[in-house]
This record gives sequence, C-alpha cells and structure tokens, in this order.
Amino acid sequence: MDVLEAIKGRRSIRAFKNQDVSAKTVEKLIDAAQWAPSAGNIQPWEFIIVRKPEIKRKLVDAALDQMFIEEAPVVIVVCANEEHSSQGYGVRGKTLYCIQDTAAAIQNIHLTAYSLRLGTCWVGAFREEETREILKIPHGIRPVAIVPIGYPAEAPTARMRKSTSQIVHYETF
Ligand SMILES: Cc1cc2nc3c(=O)[nH]c(=O)nc-3n(C[C@H](O)[C@H](O)[C@H](O)COP(=O)(O)O)c2cc1C
Repeated sequence: MDVLEAIKGRRSIRAFKNQDVSAKTVEKLIDAAQWAPSAGNIQPWEFIIVRKPEIKRKLVDAALDQMFIEEAPVVIVVCANEEHSSQGYGVRGKTLYCIQDTAAAIQNIHLTAYSLRLGTCWVGAFREEETREILKIPHGIRPVAIVPIGYPAEAPTARMRKSTSQIVHYETF
C-alpha cells in the first residue's frame, strides 16, 4: 500500500469483529514499529502483547472504561524505556526523546495494521500507575499507549483536520 494512502485512509477503530489476529501478524506490526527512527538509535521502546481476557478487562478499567479495548483480540501496550534514553541524553532523553521515539513506533504500528486491513486505536487516556501494576511494568519504563488491534467492525468517516493556513508559518512563527 502507498504510504500516503495509508496515512489518509487510517481511522481510529473502536469496534472489532470476533476474529483473531495471528501471532505472525503481530510480529509484522512489531517489526514495523522497530524501524521507526530514534534519537541516537537508542530504540527505547518496549512492547507488551496482551491476549488474556482477564488482563484486557483490567486495562479497560485503567483506561476509564473504554470497553472496546477488551473487544480487540490483541492489545499492544507500548512503553518507553526512560532509563535507556536518559543514559544517552539525560533529562532531554528521558522527557522528550523517548516519548518522541515511542510515538513514532506507535504510528508505524497503526499504519502497518491499516495496510493489513486491521483496525487500531491509539488509547492514551489511562491511569498510568494502575496500568503499571496490572502489567508489572518495572521502574524506568513508562507506558505510553494502549493499542487495541483487530479486524474492524466499523468504517468511520474521516475526522476534520485543520486547514494548513492555521498551522503553517513561514520563516518565523
Ligand atoms: C496521544 C493520543 C491519545 C489518544 N487517546 C485516545 C483515547 O484514550 N481513546 C480514544 O478513543 N481515542 C484516543 N485517541 C484517538 C484520537 O481521538 C483520534 O486519533 C482523533 O480523534 C483523530 O481521529 P482518527 O484517528 O480517526 O483520524 C488518541 C490519539 C492520540 C494521538
């Protein structure tokens, strides 16, 4: 699939068919995530793949009752390894680069999933400490996004984007 087609065709999907996503497909998504750029090539991302209904149920609670998370056959929780980024780049590494790097990896997951006819949603609204406890995430690793993945059971229309004149500045802000 053409990159621009994927960028413009992808939508946040919040309803999934009762159809499994194979381990091989998940591997492809992780492989795509790994090819994201990262500051100093530190690759500070970590991925937790969740399939167990009881863990997905707890994630729904931590994510303020976003029920569609448990509808998805597989959920990838993408984390940033702050420790690794701060070893390379200090405070800027910990507070900025590791989030940027991880966000780029998350976007790769979304676009690759779309190219494989899968639906995804970037879930950022969740209680971090609760999520950390559910998934036994160690100190120095920060959960950044919960990404439910499945075959879409809805086809939402595109959400409005700002006009470029609102966001582009020439020469100075
Ligand atoms: C950082 C971030 C956090 C988000 N958190 C949530 C969320 O918690 N729940 C949700 O349903 N969608 C969430 N979204 C998805 C946005 O609502 C969605 O991307 C936006 O409305 C544009 O729609 P589109 O993805 O279909 O183009 C999040 C997106 C981003 C980038």
